[in-house]
Amino acid sequence: MSDSPSRPFRNFYGRHKGKTLKKNQQVYLDEDLAKLSPGPVRWDENPERTALDLPGLFGDRPVWLEIGFGGGEHMVHQAASNPDIGLIGAEPYINGVAMLLGKIRQAEVTNLAVHPGDVRDLFDVLPEASVSKAFLLYPDPWPKTRHHRRRFVTPEHLQPLARVLKSGAIFRVATDIPDYVRQSLQEIPKAGFEWLAERPEDWRVAWDDWISTRYERKALREGRTPTYLTFRKR
Ligand SMILES: C[S@@+](CC[C@H](N)C(=O)[O-])C[C@H]1O[C@@H](n2cnc3c(N)ncnc32)[C@H](O)[C@@H]1O
Repeated sequence: MSDSPSRPFRNFYGRHKGKTLKKNQQVYLDEDLAKLSPGPVRWDENPERTALDLPGLFGDRPVWLEIGFGGGEHMVHQAASNPDIGLIGAEPYINGVAMLLGKIRQAEVTNLAVHPGDVRDLFDVLPEASVSKAFLLYPDPWPKTRHHRRRFVTPEHLQPLARVLKSGAIFRVATDIPDYVRQSLQEIPKAGFEWLAERPEDWRVAWDDWISTRYERKALREGRTPTYLTFRKR
């Protein structure tokens, strides 16, 4: 089966499940996940690929998107700091989803929606030009050259992302992998974005509203240097 977004099946190379869930995490999944769904996203729920009802979800608030939120710390931080936006996150790793749900309970934030799966499913059902900010924080590095085509920063992902972003929308990318920086700077502009950096601090210093993620803390412990890239959709 082809990888085309118009088809129901796609190759997914990450992991969906890791360690056994803790008892309370299973409770969060059972009790909270359905309520936090952005709507019918998956093919089996929405074979017609009808667009999500974003005003029904968030009223007239601007919509932001986090791709691969991991344990969800950045997502909850942004939602809590920006109550006037609605933030949708996608993450297929179910242990990460359970961690996010625990943090949502603790922070009592309500301006969030969660898709426990591949962000490409969301791209199919988000209306065109509906998202005003997107975050791609420490995407899977796929270090082997033959796997670079699996990286997020390839046309297969960037074109549908560009479709759902508004003109002028901001797209933030953080990575600790120099070759990922290279590929991002090569591919993201080709998909219709301009890189906003003017001086080295712009990619060396984290954004003012940044909170370090689990993956970034691991990268720092292991001696790798983060790079922060900011793009604007043309
Ligand atoms: C290296 S982790 C970083 C997690 C988090 N952003 C952080 O900084 O701690 C990359 C994450 O992207 C998720 N991911 C990979 N492919 C994805 C896809 N197609 N859609 C959504 N998330 C994806 C993985 O499951 C993983 O949790």
